[in-house]
Amino acid sequence: MKKPKIYVTRDLPGDAISFLRKYCEVEVNMEDRTLTKEELLHNIQEKDGVLCQLLDVLNEEVLEQAKHVKVFANCAVGYNNIDVDAATQRGILITNTPGVLDDATADLTWALLFAAARKVPSAERYIKEGKFTNWSPNLFLGRDITGKTLGVIGAGRIGQNFARKAKAFGMKVYYYNRNRNRGFEEETGAIYASKEELLRIADFVTLHVPLTEETHHFIGEKEFEMMKKTAILINVARGPVVDEKALVNALETGQIGGAGLDVFENEPKVESALLDMENVVVTPHIGSGTIEARSNMAMMAAKNVLAGARGELPPNCLNPEALKFV
Ligand code: NAP
Ligand code: GLV
Repeated sequence: MKKPKIYVTRDLPGDAISFLRKYCEVEVNMEDRTLTKEELLHNIQEKDGVLCQLLDVLNEEVLEQAKHVKVFANCAVGYNNIDVDAATQRGILITNTPGVLDDATADLTWALLFAAARKVPSAERYIKEGKFTNWSPNLFLGRDITGKTLGVIGAGRIGQNFARKAKAFGMKVYYYNRNRNRGFEEETGAIYASKEELLRIADFVTLHVPLTEETHHFIGEKEFEMMKKTAILINVARGPVVDEKALVNALETGQIGGAGLDVFENEPKVESALLDMENVVVTPHIGSGTIEARSNMAMMAAKNVLAGARGELPPNCLNPEALKFV
């Protein structure tokens, strides 16, 4: 059997590439950067499958020129970088990597929450800059976490995983989701609330919704006005879920107490005002960034791209109906 031709848009951790090389002709972009649209289109000519990443933009224009590709396997659970409908119309399969990054992403949410609540990065900077010359009872006073109220927006795989871990800190958990999940409520004691109610009562608001037309600027000026002045917002979903200008204003005017951000509206650009604020903690989109999670994601994407390139239905296919258009 002729080996399928696969393009991998970024080098990957773990064994995914060596796995693919057993069954396919594989070409990998070894430059540590996202390809331009022109480079991507050039490199995927004559390829059966592409293993891509979240900054590879696969809009209708790109997909129209990539109709020969049978499958794009996104190495991410989020797929807002891909116009799935446009792919379906062209008979192109799209896959993602759900589940294997839940712990890693939920745990980073906790890391940001703790870091923001206890001002860990500022305190570390202070000591590394040699400023710790005199202890003070008022030095870097943060906020308690134990016993506080958590507001989880988007209780899917990652939101639920994150919320389950709140038990260890005796937190009261409220959640808002498109569909109410009574099983989750029974299992964890989480309380379903409207978005508005949740924003009014939560000490910590965490975001876990996908980026869609509905969730674009899900948290903006109106929502910040509802939040507690001491509340801390954590965004590990996608940057545009939060109106970043409104966030800067809410932080500058003391409408909210702080933020922990792993994602940004115009990634990899970051609103410079956010970088100057002591009550803001930032990480460069590393929610799933553990060796275990990223290796598992890469292997999952590799199995998806292999199946799709062979003309089989991949295990994590988002649009099996695309096969009707082939
Ligand atoms: P998921 O299991 O699909 O969960 C998403 C949840 O959001 C679902 O429960 C869904 O509700 C809810 N939702 C969708 N649209 C909504 C709306 N308009 N209003 C209220 N709730 C809505 O996805 P996941 O695996 O947890 O991943 C969530 C997102 O996290 C991804 O899409 C990605 O963007 C982001 N992410 C970021 C990182 C990172 O590195 N920072 C890592 C992984 C994932 P239903 O139950 O009604 O469908
Ligand atoms: C990462 O952001 C993902 O969606 O997997």
